[in-house]
Amino acid sequence: MTRADWEKSYARTESALRSAGVEKTADLPTLEEVRVRFLGRKSELTELLKSLKDLSIEDKRDLGPKAQGLKASFEAALEARKSVLEESGDAAALAADAIDLSLPAIRPPKGRLHPLTTTLHEIARIFQLMGYSWAEGPFVEDEKHNFSALNIPDDHPARDSHDTFYLQGLPYLLRTHTSTVQIRTMETQRPPLRVVCPGRVFRHEQIDATHSAVFHQVEGLVVDENIGLADLKGHLQTFLQKLLGASTKTRFRPSYFPFTEPSTEVDVKCFFCPGTGCPSCKHTGWIEILGAGVVNPVVFKAIGYDEKKWSGFAFGIGVERVAMLLHGVRDLRDFYTNDIRFLKQFDESLT
Ligand code: DAH
Repeated sequence: MTRADWEKSYARTESALRSAGVEKTADLPTLEEVRVRFLGRKSELTELLKSLKDLSIEDKRDLGPKAQGLKASFEAALEARKSVLEESGDAAALAADAIDLSLPAIRPPKGRLHPLTTTLHEIARIFQLMGYSWAEGPFVEDEKHNFSALNIPDDHPARDSHDTFYLQGLPYLLRTHTSTVQIRTMETQRPPLRVVCPGRVFRHEQIDATHSAVFHQVEGLVVDENIGLADLKGHLQTFLQKLLGASTKTRFRPSYFPFTEPSTEVDVKCFFCPGTGCPSCKHTGWIEILGAGVVNPVVFKAIGYDEKKWSGFAFGIGVERVAMLLHGVRDLRDFYTNDIRFLKQFDESLT
């Protein structure tokens, strides 16, 4: 083969390689086809390289690097296209697999606290702002903490098994009020004291729209020096105005509890009617909201507090009663039947 012939076939091969359109190859399989066609054993380029051997030594030395250069630049073009196609292939695969972050998530239904719980928390929160701490006691009690330490004598009707759940064969009962926690607090702490004791209580009651066998109370107890009825009125009035609104009118009525002397029942002016009387206030214009009194010195004596040095007041609030007033609920049983349509009506602003 003459040098001129070889150079002619070089020019042909070079133009064939250029028109192969490596940079425009659409995908990897096509690119592989192009590679085999131009670099395969029978390809034009391979033939061109092979034919170098028919040239003279000088021509070989001269033209050999030219032919190798053509091969190398074609291989480089193939390699460059290959990585472009691989990258865009990855991107396409990722795009096909992508998670659509703009779709709204499936949210689990959000729970909320029970209206009795939020009411109990709200009562306790107001007293905590007034410096009271939170105390709790057991549901299962003995007669001492539920009755005798509170000056409730053996023959008091509250002890009657018609009112109290006794544990069969055991000297225990389910506490009928949270006043038990007054006694437990005084047994373990020295005055001055300011505590609220929220919790569940149990009574053998006929269940109706205003009575339940299981309900909730918040007990309060303050013990310090020179505490009297004026302190009781001030604290409870402040509490009721914070709970029900600044314009809430209160009425303190004389009453009787064995563990307080004097005792009082506290009413608020009915806020369902303008004081003229309606079913909610039993047509009196007033709604009874809590019982309270100045701690009877005999309670201090029984607990071992010096009744000449210390004085105090106590109160007991029915949580269900307050929740009914706050939310306009007419039947107490609605709180316990767990009807989701009823419970959903209460917003969470109190939680
Ligand atoms: N323990 C009373 C009840 O369950 C409520 C009560 C009244 C509690 C007067 C008190 C109080 O601490 O001083 O009916």
